Amino acid sequence: MSVQELEKIFLSKIEQEIKIEPKDWMPDAYRKTLVRQISQHAHSEIVGMLPEGNWISRAPSLKRKAILLAKVQDEAGHGLYLYSAAETLGTTREQTINDLHSGKAKYSSIFNYPTLTWGDIGAIGWLVDGAAILNQVMLCRTSYGPYARAMVRICKEESFHQRQGFDILLALSKGTAEQRAMCQDSINRWWWPSLMMFGPHDSESTHSEQSTQWKIKRMSNDELRQKFVDMIAEQVKVLNMTLPDPHLKWNEQAKHYDFGEINWTEFWNVVKGNGPCNKQRLDARRKAWDEGAWVREAASVYAEKRKARQEKQIA
Ligand code: 3HC
Repeated sequence: MSVQELEKIFLSKIEQEIKIEPKDWMPDAYRKTLVRQISQHAHSEIVGMLPEGNWISRAPSLKRKAILLAKVQDEAGHGLYLYSAAETLGTTREQTINDLHSGKAKYSSIFNYPTLTWGDIGAIGWLVDGAAILNQVMLCRTSYGPYARAMVRICKEESFHQRQGFDILLALSKGTAEQRAMCQDSINRWWWPSLMMFGPHDSESTHSEQSTQWKIKRMSNDELRQKFVDMIAEQVKVLNMTLPDPHLKWNEQAKHYDFGEINWTEFWNVVKGNGPCNKQRLDARRKAWDEGAWVREAASVYAEKRKARQEKQIA
């Protein structure tokens, strides 16, 4: 069958909402952009464990500690689902991890900001996981089967992540003047970096047009960002707090909130590695990878011995 005929079958599957599976023929560019997006998604999950992990030993109560521990552990599992989904496209775990450690691969810029107070842990759960949920619910309908199925499982845990974050801020918002100030300070510092999670404007997006044609993306960066602003602008009222945007205003005609412009210089600066914590995050990931080498070696020796035993039994 010619490449043209194969491409025709591929596109008709996309058209008919038939999931593309690992063994199906797919254009190299489709495979390539999925490896890029899925592996960077996985990196974001794993690096995202670091800012929150910083507060596990300093959580204000045993209950909050247990909840945060569970959440950070969930993120590790999300990373593993996504690395496995990336591997169905022919990459290896080593390759993807090397791409992260070498700086070749990206992860979400949001995780390059420091967690200075306990309020930040609430803001991350409420805003960062809130933004991730909107994006990931959309990805449950992505055209690549393993990615869509990983998203369904991940989304089941994300709502707990967002709820526990909001609950932390709700407790602070009902507390002392210092606690209320901590709550507002965290929202002020995490609001704009959370909006950056949806990526550049559609007009500046490298991949959106093609990713939309291939139904990898089902909503655009700006559509998802607008949905997020509309949702949070209402929820923040329950906290009796404000969002740090003087341009935020309900637009009755558009039935949306108008909001200010993101600082794109800051965004690209952080994406390019010059954020407050980029070096610290990558150093931590490289150190963890090196310190975990013995586990990988032991597991592969065990796997080889078990395979040899099984082959001996069959012989
Ligand atoms: N941080 C870092 N890089 C970003 C970025 C961000 N917030 N937003 C966009 N970029 C990068 C893109 O990766 C791309 O660079 P590349 O070509 O080297 O990969 C470039 O900026 C141009 O952006 P595009 O809009 O053209 O890229 P995409 O079409 O891939 O859209 C995206 C960007 C919306 C992030 C998309 O990749 C996506 O939906 N990814 C899956 C979801 C994801 O990765 N979320 C990250 C957070 S996960 C998380 O928070 C987990 C939670 O449980 C804590």
